[in-house]
Amino acid sequence: MTGSSPTQRSAPHPPRLTLVIPTYNERDNIPELLSQLGQVLEAAEAEIIFVDDSTDDTPTVIEAARSDCPVPITVVHRDDASGGLGGAVVEGLKRAQGAWVVVMDADLQHPTATIADLVATGEQTGADLVVATRYAGGGDRSGLSSGYRKAVSGGSTLLAKTLFRRALAGVSDPMSGFFAVRAASIETDRLQPLGYKILLELIVRTRPQRVAEVPYTFAPRHAGESKSSLREGLRYLRHLATLRLGRTRARMLGYGLIGLSGMLPNLVSLWLLTHLLGVHYVPAAIAANQVAIAWNFALTNMLLFRSGPRRHSLRSRLTRFALLNNTDLLVRIPLLGVLVAVLHVNVLLGNALTLAVMFLVRFVVIDRAIFVP
Ligand code: GDD
Ligand code: MN
Repeated sequence: MTGSSPTQRSAPHPPRLTLVIPTYNERDNIPELLSQLGQVLEAAEAEIIFVDDSTDDTPTVIEAARSDCPVPITVVHRDDASGGLGGAVVEGLKRAQGAWVVVMDADLQHPTATIADLVATGEQTGADLVVATRYAGGGDRSGLSSGYRKAVSGGSTLLAKTLFRRALAGVSDPMSGFFAVRAASIETDRLQPLGYKILLELIVRTRPQRVAEVPYTFAPRHAGESKSSLREGLRYLRHLATLRLGRTRARMLGYGLIGLSGMLPNLVSLWLLTHLLGVHYVPAAIAANQVAIAWNFALTNMLLFRSGPRRHSLRSRLTRFALLNNTDLLVRIPLLGVLVAVLHVNVLLGNALTLAVMFLVRFVVIDRAIFVP
């Protein structure tokens, strides 16, 4: 992490409000954002902390536009971008000095005029958390650019509300990236951010005493494009599983689902080899297993262990993975032999049965002998 910019100055007294703004390649939004913030923030009462993971010159643009906004501004640039958007917000929360912290996006989708409402509502109601919502009391999500994004947003919200019914009761927009928290109520050490949904993380892990909401209209992006992606969507699913089950069990679930999905390529290749090419079922089952191993490895590698440093090279990981999974064959092939040759079960059905049995055995072994709670 490169430290704060040298011209940074703290307000003379602890400010009433710290604005935390995560940025990832937002150079074209900064001048307009800072000029709008200059109009709505009281210089003596606020500070702004940008937590930046950009690969473009966003920090330089912030420096250059500083004079548009007479509020103390700190730029924290992170080199590792750990935790993504959520990690950046937590970094900002840790550095905030204000009695209230407002988190907002840099692309002007969150109206700057709502910042004061959030804090005022918190003070009037005594809430620890005030969520700017698109889904209640006149809030509006017209800024979601397409029907697809609206459906994704609605689906993600429904999923979260189903999994965390109690924690999210009374929160209509747990996906919101715009909210205010009372600094004294935040326990940053409990947070383990993973991607975009930092508000969900905050609510589920720290259970704020009282939550209020302020409706707002989610505007279209000012410049540039959303950084959210399919990859971010998968990260959200991992985040939900981790929040619900804990890290280890969430990974087990991932292994399980991937293992289950591997049955499809396994059975398809077995069918191709035996029915179309007339290969004997034993070598065919061995070959089908290799296809499934490749499938499982690719998914495990891409979905479960995408980020973070890696101890082994890709080739070494693949070799270990293939070795481990092939020991499975030593059990499965004799079992398949018994089913097909002795009990006259159909090859595809027999193979599916051995896959299911070994899946269960593996699960029990991993659960009871490897990840003992
Ligand atoms: N530091 C940092 N690191 N900032 C990031 C990162 C990252 O990895 N990824 C995105 N950002 C910043 C963007 O630069 C922007 O300021 C803000 O986070 C939101 O990113 P967008 O890419 O504009 O997200 P969105 O518009 O699709 O979704 C936003 O609004 C939704 C509705 O409020 C997010 O806030 C969602 O969490 C939210 O559900
Ligand atoms: Mn946006």
